[in-house]
Amino acid sequence: MSRDGLRVRGRSQRRGAKDGPDAGPADRHPGEAAGTALRAVGLSRTYGRGENLVRAVDGVDLDVPAGQTFAVTGPSGCGKSTLLQLFGGLDRPTEGEVWLGGRRVDHLGERALARLRRRAVGFVFQSFHLMDELTAAENVELPALLAGASPRTARRRAAGLLDRVGVADRARHLPSKLSGGQRQRVAIARALVNEPLVVLADEPTGNLDSAATHDVLRLFDELRAAGQTLVVVTHDERVAATADRVVSLRDGALADDIRLGGDGGTGLGTLLGWED
Ligand SMILES: Nc1ncnc2c1ncn2[C@@H]1O[C@H](COP(=O)(O)OP(=O)(O)O)[C@@H](O)[C@H]1O
Ligand SMILES: [Mg+2]
Repeated sequence: MSRDGLRVRGRSQRRGAKDGPDAGPADRHPGEAAGTALRAVGLSRTYGRGENLVRAVDGVDLDVPAGQTFAVTGPSGCGKSTLLQLFGGLDRPTEGEVWLGGRRVDHLGERALARLRRRAVGFVFQSFHLMDELTAAENVELPALLAGASPRTARRRAAGLLDRVGVADRARHLPSKLSGGQRQRVAIARALVNEPLVVLADEPTGNLDSAATHDVLRLFDELRAAGQTLVVVTHDERVAATADRVVSLRDGALADDIRLGGDGGTGLGTLLGWED
């Protein structure tokens, strides 16, 4: 896996000129230092208006350095999923900015945004969101094909990733023939197939039993060790324990920000004795 995010970043910046007037170098954040994968500036998303106004995300400032694993926690309804969708360009902020790999992305046009999502972001969802009619391997190949990989390359990458997540022997199975844990491992392989700058996971273990949760956590640990930037929304403390930083949200705003080990440091899991 390595730090391929940096490659994605170079690619998208070179492509910038084609994406319209908003995408040029002038749009780079003045304080952009090498190695910030994801940045939110004054990020807000409201729903409804007047009496029904909901501040789902309310003025969030956050920098996620490349190679770090962030956990986002907080009670149901505090804005975790909305925040993740804003990070990944699945939703647009009402106010504020989102920067991915040094490029402002929240005001890109639809096509540029879709392309960016495909190349720079890997999503993992609680309910997997695999295509039922495609095999495990085809599910992983699809985003590679959509991003312009040749069929041969897509097949090779999918086979390698399915092997890496431990489901190579299920490559030709449909999702309906897989356990929940296997489905999520296929979904993680899919999220990685375009070597994304950042992987965004929303309650990735929410539908899994504890054995499958353990497998997914081990995978996340491997990703972290390989330098993959990862933002995981969770209220499972075992998942949060694998992160470098744990930020918690209350009513859409950052309430707490705990720095754990960092590079090669001690994870929360070790501190609290959760790790085996
Ligand atoms: N599409 C929507 N329309 C209206 N309100 C929404 C919508 N999506 C989320 N919300 C509201 O925004 C708040 C944050 O939701 P969400 O981000 O899903 O929280 P979490 O993932 O932490 O449970 C909640 O009050 C929720 O009801
Ligand atoms: Mg949610």
